[in-house]
Amino acid sequence: MSLAGKRIVLGVSGGIAAFKAVDICRRLTALGAHVTPILTEAALHFVGKATFDALASELAVTSMWDGPDPSPHTTLGKSADLILVAPATADLMARAAAGMANDVLSATLLATSAPVMFAVAMHTEMWEHPATQENLVVLRRRGAILVEPVVGALASGDFGKGRMADPAEIVAAVVATLGPRDLDGLRVVVSAGGTREAIDPVRFIGNRSSGKQGYAIAEAAAQRGASVILVSTVGLSAPSGSQVVRVESAEEMSVAMHVAAADADVIIMAAAVADFRPSVVSSSKIKKHGGAPEVVLEPTTDILAALGRTKRAHQILVGFAAETNDLRANALEKLRRKNLDFIVANDVSAEGVGFEHETNAVTIFACTGDETTIPLTEKRAIAHAVLDRVVAMRDRAH
Ligand code: CTP
Repeated sequence: MSLAGKRIVLGVSGGIAAFKAVDICRRLTALGAHVTPILTEAALHFVGKATFDALASELAVTSMWDGPDPSPHTTLGKSADLILVAPATADLMARAAAGMANDVLSATLLATSAPVMFAVAMHTEMWEHPATQENLVVLRRRGAILVEPVVGALASGDFGKGRMADPAEIVAAVVATLGPRDLDGLRVVVSAGGTREAIDPVRFIGNRSSGKQGYAIAEAAAQRGASVILVSTVGLSAPSGSQVVRVESAEEMSVAMHVAAADADVIIMAAAVADFRPSVVSSSKIKKHGGAPEVVLEPTTDILAALGRTKRAHQILVGFAAETNDLRANALEKLRRKNLDFIVANDVSAEGVGFEHETNAVTIFACTGDETTIPLTEKRAIAHAVLDRVVAMRDRAH
């Protein structure tokens, strides 16, 4: 996933969260964006110009008067694809709502017709104040995109709503606004989480899958324009733009996947499906006094292999392979046996990889023989890399 060629003005106003803008700047340039920082006078109390000078694509602008450009606000306002203000303080938003232009950042906001995004950060009382809330209504009505603050520890030592969203969330919102819509009109079905196979009404056989990778794929696909059905065993909040179907067992997931796959263009099995389930499920809680129960297992159906058998010509089918050894050989064997277009293989015994982590490292093997290795990165970045391969294959087919 890339923001190559996109010109982003990163406005930093004066709040303690200004230090997180450094990370945002780094993440945006890493995605290929051309980033020009504007730091307000107040922001310079919290962060140094030199830090942004080193990380951004252009030297940071801190004043209307000091640089070579006699009109930096109009130059930046006109050329920007997006202006992201992070952190956006109550004062900065009040001035933006009032149309004031008394520093280089507010003047740039007035001189632009590009989308404007505010990543809000302030103390809870300031957030809740009617003045701020009314300013937000005005800014929203004019089309501003708000990344709302979250509940957490605040600089004052208090706890409440007002903390700026994580840099990764803010960058995801930028990607959603500026990124490619290369899955527009496509129907994507994703499975996520580990299945639970009941032993009795209170116990189950499960696995360590958190569902995070599947959710990241669903979110990324929706951002890129797809209509997304996410068949999930976990209760994470639904990624925006996707419809969630909750299931628990391999059998329920199988039914839901077959229904959803019937008119899907892309099917991605990121779930960790149990290979075996108890052959008998006790209808009442198994009691301790009966002694250790013998749980006899039987195989579940392989959902992915079944989808591979019924796959239609236009469908792209993607599987995952969680391996601890012989990654390449095992992944390629599954790719062939299950009739997949891609298999995303990860070595779950490696540090920071796979189950329960925020990060992952994978190799994507294609049925064409292509291989792409993605070193350790956020699951969100892995999601976009998988979708990049899917788009490339569709482009080749058409
Ligand atoms: N899968 C599935 N149904 C199953 C088991 C696995 O759809 N009953 C899918 C998984 O969602 C994944 C892929 O098959 O996309 C590979 O899963 P994995 O557990 O790595 O492989 P298995 O085929 O189960 O083989 P093994 O456990 O022996 O490695």
